[in-house]
Amino acid sequence: MSRLPFPGAYPTTRMRRLRTDGWIRELVAEHRLSPSDLIWPIFVVEGDRRQPVESLPGVERHDLASAVEACRRARDLGIPAVAIFPMIDRALRSEDGAEACRAGNLVCRAVSAIKAAVPDLGIVVDVALDPFTSHGHDGVIRDGRILNDETIEILVRQAVVQAEAGADIVAPSDMMDGRIGAIRAGLDGAGRQDVKIMAYSAKYASAFYGPFRDAVGSTGVLVGDKKTYQMDFGNSDEAMREVELDLREGADMVMVKPGLPYLDIIRRVRDGFGVPVLAYQVSGEYAMMKAAAQNGWLDYDKALIEVLTAFKRAGAAGVLTYGAVDAAVLLG
Ligand code: PBG
Repeated sequence: MSRLPFPGAYPTTRMRRLRTDGWIRELVAEHRLSPSDLIWPIFVVEGDRRQPVESLPGVERHDLASAVEACRRARDLGIPAVAIFPMIDRALRSEDGAEACRAGNLVCRAVSAIKAAVPDLGIVVDVALDPFTSHGHDGVIRDGRILNDETIEILVRQAVVQAEAGADIVAPSDMMDGRIGAIRAGLDGAGRQDVKIMAYSAKYASAFYGPFRDAVGSTGVLVGDKKTYQMDFGNSDEAMREVELDLREGADMVMVKPGLPYLDIIRRVRDGFGVPVLAYQVSGEYAMMKAAAQNGWLDYDKALIEVLTAFKRAGAAGVLTYGAVDAAVLLG
């Protein structure tokens, strides 16, 4: 039983008392978003073919010079890290995605250029073959099946090449079993003990990746779907198993993806493991907000801050979002 003189019901207690003015709301706020919570995914393209991504209003594919400039601005706004995604020339895509492992490929050159120009900005790169394969899958295929162990060997080489180009964090997004341990061993063997692994641990087979596939040139390339490696959206216990395995294999941080439809997973993982959990507000989530705003149906700025704060409330240590720069400016 409560020993308070007043048992805490209306009219003694009025919840609205702490909402009367801006200053008191600020004082009692439980969660606040800061630019330091954000990772900004950017797209890069070869040569001078810089262009907007139609399905992601406000997002473009950068050439290297404009990528460097954009990163400098992001850092000045207090954003700690960017994630780089390449649109690889169609002619360089192949069955086994060999281009992914070539030192000097587009991703590696972008990493090196950004690292040289903005050394105190963290750089994240995806480890997965989909931007590099002729079929758009994250792994290699035989007889219509994605091969797990053969894919891992390639992913290890890809991760090492990216680390050698200057990547600070490698983010395996391929969902092959056992790849985290193999990548950790590969990085350590190459003397890259400090390179961090941000594992896309709970990555769901989602309809919300549509605009991203457009941005990296996989639309129309991808054959079939990714349901034999990405997770079923009805599952939650399975996400806990994925996270546990990745942590045992050496993941430093884990990711839940997509973001907003999976806040329950973020909360479970945070409570269950107490490790840094990143949320990825994916392309389709961003595009929905932009499209609605373009129709005058909602206020993009307000919706963005609300959603990003919701990730923090759910327990995320940080959020990957195409709106990172917009949010940082708004928070400025
Ligand atoms: C590639 C990858 C994808 C995304 C990040 N890395 C797409 C996919 O798995 O098909 C999606 C990001 C987004 O939609 O913003 N493995």
